[in-house]
Amino acid sequence: MRIRLSEPTYGEEEIAEVLESLRSTQVSMGAKCKGFEQAFARYAGVKHAVFVNSGSSANLLAWFAIANPLFRPPEGCKGLYPGAEVIVPAVTWSTTIWPIVQAGGIPVLVDCDPLSLQMRPEAVEAAIGPDTVAISPVHALGNSCDLDALRRIGQRHNLVMMEDTCEALGTRWQGRMVGTFGLLGTYSFFFSHHITTIEGGMVVTDDDYLADLLRCLRAHGWTRDLADKNRFGDSSALDTRFAFVNTGFNLRPTELNGAFGLHQLPKLDGFNAQRRQATQALSAGLAPLVAQGDISVMAVTPGADPAFFGFPLLTRDAVTRRALAEHLERSGIEVRPIICGNMARQPAMAHVRHRVAGRLDGADRIMDCGLYFGMHPGYDNADVAFVVDRISEFFQ
Ligand SMILES: Cc1ncc(COP(=O)(O)O)c(C=O)c1O
Repeated sequence: MRIRLSEPTYGEEEIAEVLESLRSTQVSMGAKCKGFEQAFARYAGVKHAVFVNSGSSANLLAWFAIANPLFRPPEGCKGLYPGAEVIVPAVTWSTTIWPIVQAGGIPVLVDCDPLSLQMRPEAVEAAIGPDTVAISPVHALGNSCDLDALRRIGQRHNLVMMEDTCEALGTRWQGRMVGTFGLLGTYSFFFSHHITTIEGGMVVTDDDYLADLLRCLRAHGWTRDLADKNRFGDSSALDTRFAFVNTGFNLRPTELNGAFGLHQLPKLDGFNAQRRQATQALSAGLAPLVAQGDISVMAVTPGADPAFFGFPLLTRDAVTRRALAEHLERSGIEVRPIICGNMARQPAMAHVRHRVAGRLDGADRIMDCGLYFGMHPGYDNADVAFVVDRISEFFQ
């Protein structure tokens, strides 16, 4: 038996839709991408969803929109100016952080709770300085940050909130989808995520103006995809196919990605129900080890209805973590570090202007003692029993 970190979740429907796109020769961003955006916005309960070619691109687009001269911040807030600070959790993926730096900001790393794996609200508040303009909660591994606490802090200090939800599609906070609480939220549809478009990402917002700014920056700075073509400047005298009103990238998805999205999204609730079932069974199976103090498993933040992305656990110390990881790999269970561990300890940070606010003891513990194994909709009882037995035999 082999438990891999991820398993494919697509089938004949996605393949047939892709083939239809290829045969039609409409392969660059078009009706299928638009249809997926509309369906996604409806599903998430937001006004706008802007589809891009990865979750990293979604973060890039979001931060460059916030840094753009045409950005209109919510009342009392500021955009991202050169040297402005953004608070991020120390335990996150690299491309939560790089786009902030690329857009001219300074990431400020704060500690995470080793039980819930989420950024600590009290560490966020303590990290705020005169140049702090934004906060980027990351809902790690399908759990949720304490969004009530973070929203209160954001409101008290006039901070823009950009939720990196790339690991938590379908996770809810007080009944509402995470990623829809901030000014913007981003999602990823990479192969191993809750649904996949092979590669792909989404930015969501309720702000009409900001949505057009995102669409403009997504594709060349031109006006083609804007709801209001003259929003950023009068281009009526120009050929409307080639009117440029801003800087921009090309972060567009293809119709093949849109084709996947159209068929994957209706399956999301079912996939997440299966994830929740497997999570409960694994938690029950591992409960004796938790009671003995051999491991801790991710504690769901009160108020969250999670959709576990992987199944993380922490051992007592780093030596045990290493031995357990070797045992599981030898037994056919793939394991990996919890996201990137403490990003402050990644070599790249030596070249990146940043600030570490306070101690990162929780993030260090997550890095040194944490691992996770795969959690996907295909899990059955035999998979759960196999994983529980292999972990239990290690501690015997
Ligand atoms: C928290 C977080 N942000 C951003 C990303 C980037 O997403 P993508 O792999 O689609 O570029 C990931 C990837 O897994 C992630 O975990």
